[in-house]
Amino acid sequence: MAVGVFDSGIGGLTVLDAVQKRLPEEAFVYYGDHAHSPYGVRDADDIHGLTRGAVQRLWDEGCDLVVLACNTASAAALRRMQEAGVPEGKRVLGVFVPLIEALTERQWGDNSPPREVAVKHVALFATPATVASRAFQRELAFRAIGVDVEAQACGGVVDAIEDGDMILAEALVRSHVDALKRKMPKPEAAILGCTHYPIMEEVFQDALGPEVSVYSQASIVASSLADYLTRHPDKHGAGTETKFLTTGDARKVTDQATRFLRRKVEFQPA
Ligand code: DGL
Repeated sequence: MAVGVFDSGIGGLTVLDAVQKRLPEEAFVYYGDHAHSPYGVRDADDIHGLTRGAVQRLWDEGCDLVVLACNTASAAALRRMQEAGVPEGKRVLGVFVPLIEALTERQWGDNSPPREVAVKHVALFATPATVASRAFQRELAFRAIGVDVEAQACGGVVDAIEDGDMILAEALVRSHVDALKRKMPKPEAAILGCTHYPIMEEVFQDALGPEVSVYSQASIVASSLADYLTRHPDKHGAGTETKFLTTGDARKVTDQATRFLRRKVEFQPA
């Protein structure tokens, strides 16, 4: 049993950590494409090509189900991959839809027509590529009406986190929140639409103020995946051992991930 989890870097570990707590018996293969991170400044074709390569590697590893724990890949590549068709028995899922279902108070797979929901003013923080794709607004429009979304492309935050420069990451988050507030002074909810951002969740919440509900993906995706695997027991895949692969410098990524998760995580070359 192994489920593939993919991100451009260490951000997907926020999702993996929550999923492992929820499904302690499950084996996972994590793949971080550190050699090509960040994805958020690349164009859609480039992100699609890199994501396809990574997903293929996880399928080859025996994973029947791959979770794109990366909003940028989910936004720029998932739909195109699904439309092109995936091999028999394989499946690839993104992280957008569970988040939007939580925001719009829907159960998994509820495809009823869009309806009015409680929140009306939503701030979206994401990478430049995710913002440019408008994938969040598209998925939201299938489920909710009358929601005003203001998106803020958070240039530089992923690089700072990957470099371990948390002082720079905090300064950038605060300046992106200020920029968002100039466009939307009173958001009711804020979406952290990048799996790196939960690492900075307290800073986002502090800069936004206590009255803003901050939605971060890790726990939402964990519940959704647990639910999916209960309904699709054939998607556990082969493999019994959790492992961590990177296209980057395995030693450096191991140190970074161990610091971040506060437990030993050994990456090996992909
Ligand atoms: N964690 C990825 C996401 O959720 C990061 C993107 C990047 O590499 O820029 O969008």
